[in-house]
Amino acid sequence: MAKVTVIGAGNVGATCANALAFNKVAGTVVMLDVKAGVSEGKAVDILQSAQTLGFETNVVGITGDYSATAASDVIVVTSGIPRKPGMTREELIGTNANIVKSVIENCLQYSPDAVFIIISNPMDTMTYLTLKASGLPKNRVIGMGGALDSSRFKYYLSQALHVNPAQVEGIVIGGHGDTTMIPLKRFATYNGIPVSELLDAATLDKVVADTMVGGATLTGLLGTSAWYAPGACGAYVAAAVVHDYKRLIPSCVYLDGEYGQKDICIGVPAIIGRNGVEKIVDFKLNSEEKALFEKSANAVRTTNNIL
Ligand code: 2OP
Repeated sequence: MAKVTVIGAGNVGATCANALAFNKVAGTVVMLDVKAGVSEGKAVDILQSAQTLGFETNVVGITGDYSATAASDVIVVTSGIPRKPGMTREELIGTNANIVKSVIENCLQYSPDAVFIIISNPMDTMTYLTLKASGLPKNRVIGMGGALDSSRFKYYLSQALHVNPAQVEGIVIGGHGDTTMIPLKRFATYNGIPVSELLDAATLDKVVADTMVGGATLTGLLGTSAWYAPGACGAYVAAAVVHDYKRLIPSCVYLDGEYGQKDICIGVPAIIGRNGVEKIVDFKLNSEEKALFEKSANAVRTTNNIL
């Protein structure tokens, strides 16, 4: 049975650990935090739901001792501070870059073969930093943002269409930022029917705009950043690795010429399996989408340059 570690037992990390346990993604889920008692307490709380919810995953909470994470197959990194209302994800870079760098070094000491899933913000830059600081092969570092942004896109589409979200498909590429993400309305469908056949252009544009500020809207309501969908999406990507599902997931991955970009981690459709990024699906964007992608890549690069 697989072992998955979640670094950070805040809202996102604990929700991710809970989803991993509840969905039986791993035999063992380790949750590690720097705050004494938090991960231990949340692990026991999750375990006390096991009989009721019917899972047998072992959940272990640890304060600061990375040896407990040894031989993890997958490590989900949620560490760092979340944004407050009015903040952009990019503003978190100063604090979170140092945290993420030391987390990755500590994890690699005990799990040299793990696949890393990065949730910490600014997510594209933290994914790039993980790759550069660790020297890991590019297939073993995946940023989670595209999975989350795509699920928000599908949610807003389903609301506009008044339909079951499970029958809506749509992907978001580009950066995981309020102005950098690109919901691809041209490819969104409702049970195979292009949504452009069912929604007028103004409604579709509003869906796109709502998706782009989906995280900020929740931060405004909650006073901190969201956690149910971010945690669930982390577990969804982890499951694809652990079970070798080869799921096509819009993910932040290292590009080496794909989509006309080099030396950047940014969201594109990727097939995720046991090796992490198994394949980047490099399909042709139209000129409008291409221009948006280039603009998005430039913005992500600007944040990377702060490192
Ligand atoms: C969000 O968009 C946490 O970045 C995450 O909610």
